[in-house]
Amino acid sequence: MAGRRHEYVILLILVCLWNTIDGLKLEQVLILSRHNIRTPLTARLEDTTPYKWPQWKNEVGHLTDKGALLESYMAEYFAEWLNETGLLPRGCPTDDEVFVYANTRQRTRESARAFVRGAFGNCSISAYSIDSEDMDPVFNPILRDTSETTKQKITAEMIQKLKGLRLDAAYKELNDIIDLKNSDICKSDSFCDFLQGENEIVYVIGKEPNIVGPLATSNNVMDSFIMSYYEGMADEDVAWGKIVKPEQWALLSEIIRENQNVRFNSTSLARDVAKPLLKYIKTVFEHNPPRKVTVLFGHDSNLNSVMSALGFKYYELPHQYEATPPGGKIVFQKWRDEDTNRALLKINYVYQSTDQIRDASRLSLGSPPLWARLELTECSADSDGFCPWDQFQKILDAIEQF
Ligand SMILES: *[C@@H]1O[C@H](CO)[C@@H](O)[C@H](O)[C@H]1NC(C)=O
Ligand SMILES: *[C@@H]1O[C@H](CO)[C@@H](O)[C@H](O)[C@H]1NC(C)=O
Ligand SMILES: *[C@@H]1O[C@H](CO)[C@@H](O)[C@H](O)[C@H]1NC(C)=O
Repeated sequence: MAGRRHEYVILLILVCLWNTIDGLKLEQVLILSRHNIRTPLTARLEDTTPYKWPQWKNEVGHLTDKGALLESYMAEYFAEWLNETGLLPRGCPTDDEVFVYANTRQRTRESARAFVRGAFGNCSISAYSIDSEDMDPVFNPILRDTSETTKQKITAEMIQKLKGLRLDAAYKELNDIIDLKNSDICKSDSFCDFLQGENEIVYVIGKEPNIVGPLATSNNVMDSFIMSYYEGMADEDVAWGKIVKPEQWALLSEIIRENQNVRFNSTSLARDVAKPLLKYIKTVFEHNPPRKVTVLFGHDSNLNSVMSALGFKYYELPHQYEATPPGGKIVFQKWRDEDTNRALLKINYVYQSTDQIRDASRLSLGSPPLWARLELTECSADSDGFCPWDQFQKILDAIEQF
């Protein structure tokens, strides 16, 4: 007993030393999160294969019960981390200290509620979303600028991305898995081979930048496969047991990455689509006194367009197939170097690995989610991942001119 107490005291001293030697204090955090596991978005998948799709308990596009559970696990972890960093010490934070804000979709609202339950379950904090069933304009990733020049720029970016697609191997594999040549869309629309079709751009002001063709259709199929895998369905209910190797998942999930890449990952496009959300993020950092913690729940389109608009460098998420996995979070941190009184920015991607998701692993400081470093092109990070806040402020100031 005495021995263990000893270890505890030494540990405590080490933690304190580490904190002071470091001389860094966390002042503010903004978390931009994707909702957690949802049911597949497309109801018309039965046309794409002669096989039967698995049944989902929840409505189309809704957060699943497991998604809510996983989000509360993330939240439990973040509550511990926010306490450990000293930003939210023991006890309930006030409404001035924490704000959790979600888009109006069921999956984002319920993710936010699950987060609040997990992190601040016994407190008076609640999840906010606007009182409407329409998309919240702050989160709505739609084309807005009506000028012809912008249209030309954005269309050119999308064409460029489409030209860069290297999906033949993935398409071939998917043709076989779903037996596309024996599907209804093959019979009725002569859509029998993902390698054959052309992708068309759909550019409509007030709508999301979109595409129709093999990439969109294959993405819908892959979305269903990967969500059923995350959901923990039996092997035979995930792509009828035909995706067995990690290399297959890696190859096929290129489709999901590229769909997002074409639709939300080019600079002019992202600056138009994400402008309201970027302005919102800017106001959060300018609010005085600063609110300690802001958690935003949106969609992969929000995360991708924000990263593209602000100029994030290429990143990889080990142990994940997706570039923006469900429940994954971009964590903007404002730190202060107390020796020099300079503010510093650090950005991480905090996410659950595919195994943590499929196994529904409970998370804590002892068994954390994964952390990957993110970096802005115009704010180079030092070896510890910090870049000068002044430089980030310049990027934020430029948002008005986007
Ligand atoms: C908060 O952190 C302190 C150490 O910084 C620790 O003693 C305490 O147990 C933590 N509280 C919770 C709820 O994790
Ligand atoms: C809420 O209180 C109960 C009972 O004290 C406790 O078991 C639970 O961990 C608390 N939840 C949170 C999120 O702090
Ligand atoms: C986003 O676009 C950049 C620039 O074209 C590219 O380097 C990067 O790989 C893309 N990211 C993803 C996740 O596709």
